[in-house]
Amino acid sequence: MGINILNSNKAEIQDGESLKQLEYIEQAKDKVSALEKELGRKLTACVVTFGCQMNARDSEKLLATLKLAGYEETESEDADFVIYNTCSVRDNADQRVLGRLGQTSNFKKKNPNMKIAICGCMMQEAGAVEKIQKSYRFVDLIFGTHNIYKFAELLNTVLDSDRMIIDIWKETDKIVEDLPAFRKYPFKSGVNIMFGCNNFCTYCIVPYVRGRERSRSPKDIIRECEKLAADGVKEVMLLGQNVNSYGLDFSDDNPDKISFAKLLELVCEVEGIERVRFMTPHPKDFSDELLDVIAKNPKIARHIHLPLQAGNSEILRRMNRKYTKESYLELAGKIREKLPDVAITTDIIVGFPGETKEAVLDTIDVIKKVKFDNAFTFIYSKRPGTPAASFEDQVPEEVVKENFDMLLKVVQETAKEQTAKLQGRTETVLVEGVNEHDKSLLTGRMSNNTLVHFPGGEELIGELVPVSLLECHGFYYLGKLVK
Ligand code: SAH
Ligand code: SF4
Ligand code: F3S
Repeated sequence: MGINILNSNKAEIQDGESLKQLEYIEQAKDKVSALEKELGRKLTACVVTFGCQMNARDSEKLLATLKLAGYEETESEDADFVIYNTCSVRDNADQRVLGRLGQTSNFKKKNPNMKIAICGCMMQEAGAVEKIQKSYRFVDLIFGTHNIYKFAELLNTVLDSDRMIIDIWKETDKIVEDLPAFRKYPFKSGVNIMFGCNNFCTYCIVPYVRGRERSRSPKDIIRECEKLAADGVKEVMLLGQNVNSYGLDFSDDNPDKISFAKLLELVCEVEGIERVRFMTPHPKDFSDELLDVIAKNPKIARHIHLPLQAGNSEILRRMNRKYTKESYLELAGKIREKLPDVAITTDIIVGFPGETKEAVLDTIDVIKKVKFDNAFTFIYSKRPGTPAASFEDQVPEEVVKENFDMLLKVVQETAKEQTAKLQGRTETVLVEGVNEHDKSLLTGRMSNNTLVHFPGGEELIGELVPVSLLECHGFYYLGKLVK
C-alpha cells in the first residue's frame, strides 16, 4: 500500500542507539543483496505475531528493519526469513508457536538459506530458551523483549553465521527512541507510552517477561504522534499495560512527570490526529481527572476497556487486583453517568484458583449491572512462576468449562442488548477496508469500537465518514453512508 517507514532518515534521528541500528541495517542490506545476486531472486520475510497490541507494535518495528534490509514482505512462512514474535500470557499461545515452528522446519529443509528467528515474551520465560535449544535445533536466532531494539544488529550476526544465536536480557531500564517502524494500516497506529508492568496480578506472567514500568517522555510521545499525523495517521492508540500509572516512574522534580490524563490532552492537541484510543487502564487507579478529560475531548474514543477479571471481592484480593466488586461497580457507574455514550468492555478470567459457584455468580452480577458492551472471557491458564500457579485450590477442568459456558451466555446477551441500543443513530466511522466477505461493502469502526459495514468505494478507506446505523446484527451493524 506504499506506507512509509518512519524513522529511516538519519538526519531526523535523535537517539544514538537508533542511528547505530540504522548502520547495521546498511550492512545487512549488503548481505541480502549479495545473496539475491547469488540466488537470482528477491528474498522474502514473514513476521508472525502472537500477542497483544504491544507485540503487534513490536512486530511493525521488526518488519521495518527487514524491509529496509531489502527483504520483501510475505504472509507465507515459506520465506527466506521468518520471525515469530511470541506471547506467553496463556499456555495455548505458547503451544501454538511450538506447533508452527515444527511446520516451518519443513520449509527450511527445502531452502538452506532460510533463517528462522523467535523473540518476544515467551523467550523471557524460564526454561523457554533451553526448550528451543534442545528440541528445535533448526532455529537460527533467539532474543527477548528487552533487546528487541537491536534486531538489526542481531540480523547481521545471523546472516554471517550458521550457529544458533541467543541473546536474552533479564531486565532493562533502557528505552530506545526513533527506531524505524512500518505500519499495517496507513491511517491508524499504536503508540507505546510505557513498557512493562509493576502490578503483579497473581495469575499474570507479563511483569516477569516485560520487566518494570518505564514511561516514555511526553516529548517523545508527542513527537511520534506528530510524525504519524504528518504521514497520514488519523487514529492513535496509546499503549501500556496500565496506562493510569503513566509517568509514576519519573522522579517528582522531573518536568516530564505528568499524569496520563494530561498526556491524553496533549495528544488530542496534535493536529491531524482525529481519534485517540488507549489501552489498558487499570480500575484500581482510574482518576476523576481522566473522566473529565474524556468528557471534554470529543477526539477521545467513546470506549473504555476496563478489565474486571472477576466480580468476587475475595477472588479479586487473591488476584492482587487491588479493587473490590463494590469499588468496580462504583467506578463503572460513574463512567456511565458522566460519559453516557461510552462503551465499556472488559476482560474476565474463569477458573482462577478457589473460584466457587458463588464467585462466578458475583461476576455474572457485575456483568448484568455494568452491562458490558463487549467482553473477552478467558479460561484461567496456570503460568509457571506466578504465585497463583502454586495456589492449592485449582478448579477442576469440567467445573471451569461449565462456568465458562454459563458466563459466556450472559456476556453475549448483554453485549447484543447494548449494541442494539445504537439502532437509528448516525455515527462517525473510520473506514478500515473492504469487507472480507462482501466486496461491495466497506468496514469501519465507530468511536465506541463497534463495527459497521456499509456500501461504498475504496477511496473512502482511511477517511472518517458519517454512517447511519440501519440494521443491528448482534455485534455489528449494516449501515448507509450519509451524504
Ligand atoms: N494489563 C492488562 C491485561 C494484559 S493481559 C490488565 O491489567 O488488564 C490481557 C488479558 O489476559 C488480561 O486482562 C487477563 O484477562 C488475561 N490473562 C492474563 N493472564 C492470564 C492467565 N494466566 N490465564 C488466563 N487469562 C489471563
Ligand atoms: Fe498482568 Fe496485572 Fe500487569 Fe495487567 S496489570 S499486565 S493483568 S500483572
Ligand atoms: Fe502476551 Fe507479552 Fe502481550 S505475554 S499479552 S504479548 S505483553
